[in-house]
Amino acid sequence: MKRSEINNVIRATEDFFAKHCFHLPAWARWDIDTWKKNKNQCSEIFDCSLGWDITDFGSGDFLRRGLTLFTLRNGSQARDGKEYPKVYAEKIMMVREEQETPFHFHWSKMEDIINRGGGLLAFELYRADEGEGFDPKPFRVSVDGVETELKAGSSLVLEPGSSLTLPQYLYHRFYAVKGSGPVLCGEVSMVNDDSNDNRFKEEVGRFPDIREDEEPWRLMVGDYGRLL
Ligand SMILES: [Fe+2]
Repeated sequence: MKRSEINNVIRATEDFFAKHCFHLPAWARWDIDTWKKNKNQCSEIFDCSLGWDITDFGSGDFLRRGLTLFTLRNGSQARDGKEYPKVYAEKIMMVREEQETPFHFHWSKMEDIINRGGGLLAFELYRADEGEGFDPKPFRVSVDGVETELKAGSSLVLEPGSSLTLPQYLYHRFYAVKGSGPVLCGEVSMVNDDSNDNRFKEEVGRFPDIREDEEPWRLMVGDYGRLL
């Protein structure tokens, strides 16, 4: 992705979060000089991959297939020999109308995805079978603690206020319903490890290569190691 595109996505997301009164930590707005001044105190942010994360899943078409995330908290059992004992994680995301996060499941992480406001959030779901393909059998999920049986591949729509629990090995794909508006989407989960715990159905890229055509407006998770 081009840096100018990423900058525009982050600016639009900041406006969207502000419209929904969702506030980010102060360092979400730091410029590169402030990062450099404070970096010795920020190991937890770097080691647990906290912060902005914009991806087009390698599609080259962010609006069709992409996601805007900000990881607010996370743990790490042993990354570079350092341990962060937190066993939970939280993200806030902006999911645009018909913008797809493609089918994937997590081997280790269980997560709740929450519609915190805006439009309607649609999911398509399958259990993974033993070969990590789509299992054609029906299964049960919990929507806000209420158990529901679903057919394989069926969709489920969350209104603002509702959440879905995604256990390990449950394939999920999601997007905001056309005409309903973008969704302020929360995630509360076990520790998140985007480098090792995403099993995408098709091979996709998780972190984009960046073409630097202007200065970064905000640093992203993938920038810390390269730019600081
Ligand atoms: Fe997921």
